[in-house]
Amino acid sequence: MDLKELAAAEAVRYVEDGMVVGLGSGSTASIAIKLIGDKVKAEGLEIVGVPTSKTSDLLGRAVGIRIVDLDDHPTVDLTIDGADEVDPRLNLIKGLGGALVREKIVAAASVVEIIVADESKLVDYLGQKAPVPVEIVKFSFKTTMRRLTGLGCKPVLRMGGDAPFTTDNGNYIADCRFERMDNPTVMESIINNIPGVVDNGLFVGRASKAMIGTRDGIRIIEKQF
Ligand code: 5RP
Repeated sequence: MDLKELAAAEAVRYVEDGMVVGLGSGSTASIAIKLIGDKVKAEGLEIVGVPTSKTSDLLGRAVGIRIVDLDDHPTVDLTIDGADEVDPRLNLIKGLGGALVREKIVAAASVVEIIVADESKLVDYLGQKAPVPVEIVKFSFKTTMRRLTGLGCKPVLRMGGDAPFTTDNGNYIADCRFERMDNPTVMESIINNIPGVVDNGLFVGRASKAMIGTRDGIRIIEKQF
């Protein structure tokens, strides 16, 4: 079985009748959404889905999940979402798919947040492989990027073809590569303190567990309290 599918299938076992389920974004979360759709049909589950992007909204509807608004269902029982990096403490970098703002809003509303990923996402420390995506408003974005440089990273404006990539919220993304990040908790706040920043892809202390698909089978990482 594909490693992403292995992880997604393990997480979908936690979906139960009556739940409000957060629908993550990215290729692994999309596999989970399809499997949730299969489970809804096979078991006749009455669940509703809160999407974290326009893509997960469309996919959820296509596979038969009733899509609702977070404002009408402010407590999400379980969210299944992907990640770009997972460190040993279950801290994450997310947002290479561009959905980090909605993903963090839904994660903050979730009782349980399960991360699904293949083993290539495991790192010793955040920033080891991936940049930190930072969503920034278009107004004066070069000024915002200069301020990000002052934090010791190298921000690169994400492109989508010839034009800058635009998020579901109508903003740009600066991908910020850090040499090394010793304190992601502090960095998450410092980045968000820069005027023009909407939010960033550091997810510290938000995941409950991670289902990691490995060549030796499923590996589950639990949150350490
Ligand atoms: C999107 C995300 C995704 O969850 C992350 O990029 C992982 O995607 P994939 O499962 O395709 O590797 O944060 O904003």
